[in-house]
Amino acid sequence: MEWAGLAEWWLEEAQDAAYGTEVLPLLRSVLPGVAGATVLEVGCGEGQVLRMLTEAGAIAFGMDSEQALARRAGQAFRGVLPSLAAVRDGAVDGIVCNLVLEHLPSLDRVFDEWYRVTRPGGWCTLVVNHPLQTAPGAGPITDPDDGEVFLRVGEYFDRGWTDEPAGEGTVRFHHRPLGEVLEAAAMAGWRLERFEERAVSAEMRSSDPSWSGHEHVPRLLGARWRR
Ligand SMILES: C[S@@+](CC[C@H](N)C(=O)[O-])C[C@H]1O[C@@H](n2cnc3c(N)ncnc32)[C@H](O)[C@@H]1O
Repeated sequence: MEWAGLAEWWLEEAQDAAYGTEVLPLLRSVLPGVAGATVLEVGCGEGQVLRMLTEAGAIAFGMDSEQALARRAGQAFRGVLPSLAAVRDGAVDGIVCNLVLEHLPSLDRVFDEWYRVTRPGGWCTLVVNHPLQTAPGAGPITDPDDGEVFLRVGEYFDRGWTDEPAGEGTVRFHHRPLGEVLEAAAMAGWRLERFEERAVSAEMRSSDPSWSGHEHVPRLLGARWRR
């Protein structure tokens, strides 16, 4: 289990300022109205997105592979994607998947399971680290002479992964070219409705000079599909 032992680390990481300035604003932007909707967040972590959904009027519940995180989130059960065996067909209005897909080694059955548990006319939303950032060897490079920022694309066209430091251990980010995600969703029957790519926000750039020049570098990707 790739996230085994990372629960303590994630409890601290979830406080990252980027959630307030980057991640949650993008998620809100791709979400449809959720008031009164039954929403399942897959890979809910300690529950910050569930709290946001509940505040917006959703009847939200979560699932996560880490028992300690699912327990912390409340209104959540332990389960391991792609399986959503505990949820019956057509039970939810929508699925939220926030910064989880890049931690799954395979997309097999992932969108199919979301489709199965979502009612006809329902939706799913996704926020991921942009695939231009997850390819092994990819990342922004700043020219030391004039500060210009370039994006090194790394091994974009291959599947691969990188292991990043996470507390005492590491966390694995799986890379797949963007087309794989779009194709997996389409093959499962989902119809793309929103698609939004974002660079680091002006707020982050003004608060931390190391982000200056990154306004043209894709950092996060958000999308919504309709069933
Ligand atoms: C980066 S955290 C995001 C948590 C939450 N969505 C948020 O935005 O605060 C990734 C989460 O995915 C969970 N996860 C990783 N692989 C999983 C799997 N195969 N099934 C279910 N959850 C998984 C981890 O335990 C972790 O809580």
